[in-house]
Amino acid sequence: MAQYTRVSGSVGLITLQSPPVNALSAAVRQGIVDSMQRALSEPEVKSVVICGQNGIFSGGADIKEFGGQMSGPPLIPMIHAIEAASKPVVAAIEGIALGGGLELALGCHYRIAHSKARVGLPEVTLGLLPGAGGSQRLPRLIGVPAALDLITTGRYVTAAEALKFGLVDQITDHNTVNVAVKFAQRVAGQPLDARRISTYPCLCPPDVDVLFEEVMQRVRRTARGAIAPIACVQAVRAAATLPYNQGMERERELMATLFTSGQTRALQYFFFAQRAVGRWSMPSGARWDTSKPRPVHKAAVIGLGTMGRGITVALAQAGFSVVAVETQEKQLMEAKQAISGMLERGAKRRGVAPALDKINYGCNIQSVADVDLVIEAVFEDMALKKKVFQQLSAVCKPGTFLCSNTSGLDIDQLACQTRNPELVVGMHFFAPAHVMKLLEVVYGPKSSPLAVATAMQLGKKIGKVSVAVGNCRGFVGNRMLKPYLEQALFLLEEGATPEFVDQVLEEFGFAMGVFRMSDLSGLDVGWKVRMADGLAVPNPTTGQATRLRQGRRYSPLGDLLCEQGRFGQKTGRGWYQYNKPGSQVAKPDPWLHSFLDEYRARHTLVARRIDHQEVLERCLYSMINEGFRILEDGIAAGPEDIDVIYVFGYSWPRHRGGPMFYATTVGLNKVLERLEHYHQAHPDVPSLQPCDLLRKLVGSGSPPIQKWREVIKKVRSQL
Ligand code: CAA
Ligand code: NAI
Repeated sequence: MAQYTRVSGSVGLITLQSPPVNALSAAVRQGIVDSMQRALSEPEVKSVVICGQNGIFSGGADIKEFGGQMSGPPLIPMIHAIEAASKPVVAAIEGIALGGGLELALGCHYRIAHSKARVGLPEVTLGLLPGAGGSQRLPRLIGVPAALDLITTGRYVTAAEALKFGLVDQITDHNTVNVAVKFAQRVAGQPLDARRISTYPCLCPPDVDVLFEEVMQRVRRTARGAIAPIACVQAVRAAATLPYNQGMERERELMATLFTSGQTRALQYFFFAQRAVGRWSMPSGARWDTSKPRPVHKAAVIGLGTMGRGITVALAQAGFSVVAVETQEKQLMEAKQAISGMLERGAKRRGVAPALDKINYGCNIQSVADVDLVIEAVFEDMALKKKVFQQLSAVCKPGTFLCSNTSGLDIDQLACQTRNPELVVGMHFFAPAHVMKLLEVVYGPKSSPLAVATAMQLGKKIGKVSVAVGNCRGFVGNRMLKPYLEQALFLLEEGATPEFVDQVLEEFGFAMGVFRMSDLSGLDVGWKVRMADGLAVPNPTTGQATRLRQGRRYSPLGDLLCEQGRFGQKTGRGWYQYNKPGSQVAKPDPWLHSFLDEYRARHTLVARRIDHQEVLERCLYSMINEGFRILEDGIAAGPEDIDVIYVFGYSWPRHRGGPMFYATTVGLNKVLERLEHYHQAHPDVPSLQPCDLLRKLVGSGSPPIQKWREVIKKVRSQL
């Protein structure tokens, strides 16, 4: 709702009231319409101020209302009526003015913002465009280039930047509402014609066509199949080329297409999924709201290779004191140089001082004695990690949390090496650790809620999206990656090329196809794991046994490449060829194609034509099937956890909502039916065998994803 009061005798003050972010729900819109009518009809009122309660102007349209029937007054005529009002209307922007909230402010005649406020039009991140006149008013107010930037990226800008753009008229460090009320008194009675943004011409730079062309090309390149960024460019182009009313008509048409596209539904789901993962729970019943974290002031990182360096940078940049430990002076110095460079580059980008003095470097593990939390990032070697955990347990003060960045080893085995296994959790970062948003917080059977809560909070403080997951081989992300990679290899055996498989996956929206991604990560990493598991063996017997190991189909293709020293980008050869080691430009490699031909001939495999559909279905459905198993096993508490992990850690296209949400858009029955089909064709591939939970969900009528937790609970209680 919105509260109406008269202040200072002549100012009508409308306060939006809809906690927590004063979203423009039906009740709020009704409140604004009623209050405006009242303000305009009261002769004592000479001007109006609109503000939001609790220091927040508005977080925009109420996203929860999007799925349902539209009720209450629509936003567009409401904003038009405010702009057309005969009395001046001033927006007092505190906290945030986002989306429809900013569009409301753009309908006002003046905008005054607190210096700490942030404004933006993030609709594109929800698969929409600023459809309440924002795409037409913003370019008229701040010019086409700046409007294109804000609308196509959805980025939030500070009050200072908004003032520079001319998006707000004034900023203040004082009480914004008081300042706005005084301002409103001052402008009462002044003519308003020059304050109505919809009447402004849209000023374009001379080379505006070139600008639109460039932006459109950039957006198409980066959108990975998302349609909203493209519609945003088209809407701004309408503002630049059409009269306001026709521009509004174009905005409406584009918005209607987006609303029915399916992508916006996925992005809205993802908006709430991102927030849902913060409300973690453990099978023991421990939860986010009943488990208090302990503050961390000083942390340590053990092992300063690829991951340890990034983790150290992330911690130091967030203001934590860090003790950074390597084995020997030479490695330590190399790491120090690399970390300092990363900090300096990051600080330059953000216009701040580099946090170099936050880090103390050393080669002695004793130096971590007084830290509150340790993150171990040494080689992926269980024996080594066990030794490090024993040392840490002996050295660290009581109560220190001991965390491992292992990509998939058993957290419980590490916990068992320590005096206090309840203080041990996994903190699985993703490379590069100071950039990637995802953190899997892995709890073992002994991990305490305190340790999980502390790791989750630390993740949040260093800007990560943290997801609490159970302990199993590969946790959630890497466990689901296994069948996906496996299917990609099988497809090569059956006739596909790496380029074709990657092209299909990239067209689907992945930033990189599976083979380009493997080349980037390094093929040797998985090879070592397979050797440790006894899967990759040198000189296996020829024939069927080579392709059948431990009772299931196995493709040795990755092992054979590694045996040739082809580890991917780092060696300049992998599934593709590169100009030189370390180069990132992948080119098809004729050697690889002949190698595949020879391999098929050796194993009497006849290459067949494989189409897009088969690549997508086998790679994605096998991964989704593993996701259902993960839910069944209780490793992830809900489908949102899996989807957030895949979008933030594995470049799953956000506009498809994540693998589990994607399954709902395909139809669970279709996923089941296709898995059955492929399993029948490949009975020696267990990952294609549909799991029980998927069958149960289909059996219970494929309930919406928000209801899965109930079915999961039932399935798990029957185990
Ligand atoms: N509608 C409904 N709920 C919203 C919301 C919105 N626009 N914005 C935030 N919320 C809810 C969140 O879901 C969360 O709810 P829970 O506590 O139940 O999880 C709560 O408000 C707090 O949000 P955050 O946890 O994100 O809190 P924060 O302080 O970290 O961030 C924020 C606050 C900056 C407003 C952030 O929530 C945000 O960016 N929200 C999105 C705003 C947005 O995209 N607005 C545009 C909507 S589309 C539109 O406006 C166009 C149109 O007219 C059609
Ligand atoms: P890396 O090989 O780049 O670095 C490991 C570092 O640990 C080396 O610098 C080594 O000198 C140091 N080290 C070894 N023993 C040590 C000891 N006892 N004390 C102090 N330092 C020691 O390895 P990377 O890639 O950084 O991996 C580290 C961990 O992170 C592994 O467990 C890995 O599985 C995991 N991980 C790796 C990811 C990646 O993409 N590289 C992603 C996520 C997790």
